[in-house]
Amino acid sequence: MLGTKLWMPTSGSSVNYGVAQPAGGRGGGGGSVRIVAMTVTIPQKFRRAEFNSPPQEIQRPKVAHSLAPEKVELFKSLEGWAESTLLPYLKPVDKCWQPQDHLPEPSCEGFFDEVKDLRARAACLPDDLLVCLVGDMITEEALPTYQTMLNTLDGTRDESGASPSPWGIWTRTWTAEENRHGDLLNKYLYLTGRVDMRQIEKTIQYLIGSGMDPETENNPYLGFVYTSFQERATFISHGNTARHAKHFGDGKLATVCGLIAADERRHENAYTKIVEKLFEVDPDGAMLAFADMMRKKISMPAHLMYDGQNEHLFDDFSLVAQRTGVYTARDYADIMEHLVDKWNVASIQGISGEAQNAQEYLGSLPSRIRRLEERAQAKVKKGPKTGSFSWIFNREVALL
Ligand SMILES: [Fe+2]
Ligand SMILES: [Fe+2]
Repeated sequence: MLGTKLWMPTSGSSVNYGVAQPAGGRGGGGGSVRIVAMTVTIPQKFRRAEFNSPPQEIQRPKVAHSLAPEKVELFKSLEGWAESTLLPYLKPVDKCWQPQDHLPEPSCEGFFDEVKDLRARAACLPDDLLVCLVGDMITEEALPTYQTMLNTLDGTRDESGASPSPWGIWTRTWTAEENRHGDLLNKYLYLTGRVDMRQIEKTIQYLIGSGMDPETENNPYLGFVYTSFQERATFISHGNTARHAKHFGDGKLATVCGLIAADERRHENAYTKIVEKLFEVDPDGAMLAFADMMRKKISMPAHLMYDGQNEHLFDDFSLVAQRTGVYTARDYADIMEHLVDKWNVASIQGISGEAQNAQEYLGSLPSRIRRLEERAQAKVKKGPKTGSFSWIFNREVALL
């Protein structure tokens, strides 16, 4: 499928809306800077195969498996640790909330009144918040892609589909917990009557069909850095939508988003615990992996989203998230800094020269990115610029 009829680049990096990133290769401590697409543009490594078709990854040489065989053994040796330390981050089904706990009960007589109340509350939500909610929901609904990604990882993948290995148990149970997120948001938004569900469903189908490539090379070191970052990113964005929903008078929606944010936080704690363990047992490997992912930049899981109409859907969605403060370019640097602190990157000793270079790069990166991002933001010419979203019946929303 890939590699055919590739001719039209999607939008690339944007100085105005992008995030500043130091240029250069491995261990780059100084040197020039460039502004790269981070949260608001589709990376140039993705292209559209033909007009009116979803973005696809450019076919190019890749590192398929970068984990050394002895490191596969290391993950095998960590199974006892995973069982005792990682799995407790998961919650038993009986202790989990379910989407139905927070939706009108269709078997009850009061169902229609409950729906009426829900719609009355949702009537107060501004269109830009609806766009953020829909974008977040679509991201959650592409869960098959994320389970696939976890099951590519050498040494931790679920080998049989029902493996008793703690890594396999983690992946399946994490997926099962995550599945409630898209389910709840989807049903809630459906009941509001304010969104075009068919367009949303098309976007989900396109997105799952497109997949994603986080450049984790089937390597769990890279994979768990990626998931640590992404769980925190979703914790931040769902938490912000909760605050916005409350502000606009939909307390029940705020509760929904808050519950999802709490799950994301728990998952973030689990994934960061894995990387923390890797820093303990293999500080060189963990340091190099963290720096590698930061140099590659963390691509957003839904960066290939498409609704059959808007070639720049992800860019537009990201701009609305940025403008409303639901998820911003600054959050990217904050997450990076949070992880640098969490994993005590600066104080790790006894590492190789190459890992020391990576350590230096990581320590200086958040403040450099933040400084450059502030400069880039200062250059942004604010509005008027609007975009229409098929998700809300093509109503116009301010992008800048
Ligand atoms: Fe989620
Ligand atoms: Fe998550």
